[in-house]
Amino acid sequence: MDSQETTQQEVFTMPRIGDKAPQFTATTTQGEINFPSDYKGKWSILFSHPADFTPVCTSEFMTFANLEEKFNKANCSLIGLSIDGLYSHIAWLRTIKDKIKFNGMENVEVKFPLIEDISMNVAKRYGMVQPGESKTQAVRAVFFVDPNETVRAIIYYPLSLGRNFDELYRALIAMQTSDQFNVATPADWNPGDDVIVSPAGSCGVAEERMGNTDELECMDWFFCTKKLDKDLILDTILKK
Ligand code: BEZ
Repeated sequence: MDSQETTQQEVFTMPRIGDKAPQFTATTTQGEINFPSDYKGKWSILFSHPADFTPVCTSEFMTFANLEEKFNKANCSLIGLSIDGLYSHIAWLRTIKDKIKFNGMENVEVKFPLIEDISMNVAKRYGMVQPGESKTQAVRAVFFVDPNETVRAIIYYPLSLGRNFDELYRALIAMQTSDQFNVATPADWNPGDDVIVSPAGSCGVAEERMGNTDELECMDWFFCTKKLDKDLILDTILKK
């Protein structure tokens, strides 16, 4: 590559955790959307897949469509994207509904918007095209965007690996729990498991954390957990 080619290459900075989600307008299978402004006040999951009419993507769309209501109840909208055109999207979603059975699911209707992105405008802006994996297809990226339009988590999978949608739901509920109750969530946490209280910010608090209290169980000053009732979490989050 000569220096002129280098200077002509577009440079995109992909959003990072804590950044405002980049704004775009796009055509989707459910009409035009303005992201993230149309979703302000809600969580959203913007996710990419490599291509329509491919088997792993088909299994993912059926699984996500089947879980959509559960995500919606947690105040979260789903938005898909691939570097395909609108008519390809429509034809693929119709085929899924009419012909495909997977994991006990059939006649699955994908009701959430699927963005057409032939121009790669959105895919490039969000770092969904990773040329080492594919120059023409988006990898399996997942962006969690919160009600303030801030990117809160990003997950990437390669083309060959279908995502775990239970994990996406777990991550969503865990982040909402952290926001709501000012706690962190340990490895493999699920609602009902103990949560981590924020670290001691002073020597005095560190000293207090050397013993257990009614509320806290402290292994050491930096590692304290507490109980957080599953029903309280779910009632709070799912009723919001
Ligand atoms: C699939 O969705 O099946 C797939 C897409 C691109 C590469 C490999 C698999």
